[in-house]
Amino acid sequence: MKKDFLSITDLSAEEYEDILTLAARLKRQRYAGVPHPLLAGKTLAMIFEKASTRTRMSFDVGMYDLGGYALYLNAKDTQLGRGETVADTARVMSRYVHGAIMRTYKHETITEFAKYASIPVINALSDKEHPCQIMADSLTLKEKFGDLNGLKIAWIGDGNNVCNSLIMSSVQTGMEIAVGTPKGYEPDPAAVKFAKEYGGKVTVYDDPIRAVTDAHAIYTDTWISMGEEDIKETKLKDFVGYQLDTALLEKAATDALVLHCLPAHRGEEITDEVIDSMQSGVWDQAENRLHAQKAILVRLMTQGY
Ligand code: CP
Ligand code: NVA
Repeated sequence: MKKDFLSITDLSAEEYEDILTLAARLKRQRYAGVPHPLLAGKTLAMIFEKASTRTRMSFDVGMYDLGGYALYLNAKDTQLGRGETVADTARVMSRYVHGAIMRTYKHETITEFAKYASIPVINALSDKEHPCQIMADSLTLKEKFGDLNGLKIAWIGDGNNVCNSLIMSSVQTGMEIAVGTPKGYEPDPAAVKFAKEYGGKVTVYDDPIRAVTDAHAIYTDTWISMGEEDIKETKLKDFVGYQLDTALLEKAATDALVLHCLPAHRGEEITDEVIDSMQSGVWDQAENRLHAQKAILVRLMTQGY
């Protein structure tokens, strides 16, 4: 495997499948109370420039489950916040810990850190991608449908970081991704280009109904990602018609799974009725962050860096 997990594209199809298999095993072991201290004696630095509930907690608890230790660092409280370079920080942290996760505004901050770190580095969300989220979602879809290959997943709303990772995961999984976004909010063209070049199936519509028709799952996310608060009013207007409500859900396949990476903005991108419905998979998705990331940590941090 590559040293780092910065993009969903860092995994081959075999590595992707192996992580999901290991995640399912670790999940069963946790439920059965079987200890699995695969990272005993290892430490993980968790560097955050932005808020987090799920990512922070699932990595922290995950390291504890694996017999290791996790160290939370708010970037602003470190010398990074006073101008120490990312490269120097990476060099120093590599002397203390065996791995690092990073949540940043700019994707390039993570790639720069990874370049100068001798330890594995994991993208815990950047402006470009959220690959750990998509591994957890893939586990959730696999639990429900058994096989990812051939599933149609509709993404409705903003063509953002989560959407970019989902689109590119089509290459390893064989899932067909149908995106429905308003004009001007399409996903990163580089993500679409990558997926198409390597055999992924992606279609981008500016019509939510066309995107969700016959989909096995409908995925949405906030219209206002972290760091976009100043354009909130404009975006709220531009996304009218893109809410995941019961009428839209009914256009998908019967019993289609509802996905949301959370946090949800109830009444904006999704209605209470849909997120609280029997079709909602969002709590499983949130739980699966723990199991999927434990598998990622094990695979990356036992490679001997
Ligand atoms: N989905 C997700 O990454 O949630 P947090 O922002 O709470 O970590
Ligand atoms: N697109 C959202 C995801 C939050 C987990 C954001 O970047 O804020």
